[in-house]
Amino acid sequence: MLSRKEITEILLCKEPELISDLHKRALYLKLNTIGPKVYLRGLIEISNICRKNCLYCGIRSGNTLCERYTLTDEEILLCAEHAYAAGYGSVTIQGGERTDPKFTDRITSLVRRVKLIGNGALGITLSLGEQSAEVYKEWFDAGAHRYLLRIEASDPDLFRKIHPDDGHHSYDRRIKALMDLKSIGYQTGSGVMIGLPWQNAEDLASDLFFMKEMDFPMIGMGPYVPHDDTPITIRAASDPEITFPSVTDRLDLSLKMISLLRILVPDINIAASTALEALHPKGRIMAINAGANIVMPNVTPADYRKNYNLYDRKAILLEDLNLGEVEIGFGEWGDSLHFKKV
Ligand code: 5AD
Ligand code: SF4
Repeated sequence: MLSRKEITEILLCKEPELISDLHKRALYLKLNTIGPKVYLRGLIEISNICRKNCLYCGIRSGNTLCERYTLTDEEILLCAEHAYAAGYGSVTIQGGERTDPKFTDRITSLVRRVKLIGNGALGITLSLGEQSAEVYKEWFDAGAHRYLLRIEASDPDLFRKIHPDDGHHSYDRRIKALMDLKSIGYQTGSGVMIGLPWQNAEDLASDLFFMKEMDFPMIGMGPYVPHDDTPITIRAASDPEITFPSVTDRLDLSLKMISLLRILVPDINIAASTALEALHPKGRIMAINAGANIVMPNVTPADYRKNYNLYDRKAILLEDLNLGEVEIGFGEWGDSLHFKKV
């Protein structure tokens, strides 16, 4: 088992050959543990309305420059049918956080309707932020079986630095939500951002151990990508103390994190995050070759997609995901082997 010191050294290492060996080792381990297939989750970004105000995110409630949208039920169902017809084994319904009953009831009925597609053939992952245990249970009973909720930064101090201190962004509440999801029976996914201001290699090593110790069967982690209309970017422009790694370094760090996690917990599902593509056109293929096994092709109608700007997505003009030689698990849910074991 890799020690914390070794992991920190690897994260700091700049030797191309050693880095390439790391990715090869992770890829070999993936092929021999969970096999060569990559599973697809059709990503439906249902709304960019969010009650939270995370300091790094372009769709934060305080961003008045963001044009808000919400897909209709019919649009969402059409996206899900499209994903099903394209052979994607499941869909991920993602959106900003809303906790009002009008919203949570709507999701319950939507999940039930998506569940009818192909007579339950389509897997349903939700990513709709922090909710009460009752709401999580209601959505689970309606047919959702996986849930994504990133911890964003496992160190409470770093978490505090990247979120406003307004009573709505609590580390402890985030942990409780993750615990609730697990105990309800969801395959629970989490993850962190990589290359944040104030984050160092030790923090990232701690993130890896956090994810291992929390025993998450799925992980989605990706690079921090600055968005112009966010407090962190605005403050960084005038405060030389606020720095973060270059594009190349964030890409390298993200790929190393994927490989290291694959080595630490070989049988989990690890996503090749879309944010990687904002840094490099082949970002997601690089992630697959570094040990990732999940890709989330965006199936949101293009007109709305341009407004779901969590980060600066200008580099991702049109989703042109060429998975080339990769073997795809078409029509399969692609559940985490790790989850099946526990
Ligand atoms: N850069 C990278 N990822 C971001 N997210 C939000 N804002 C950014 C950003 N600026 C991620 C968060 C969240 C997910 C839906 O998007 O990790 O959990
Ligand atoms: Fe909302 Fe998520 Fe963005 Fe935070 S990161 S403002 S919770 S969409």
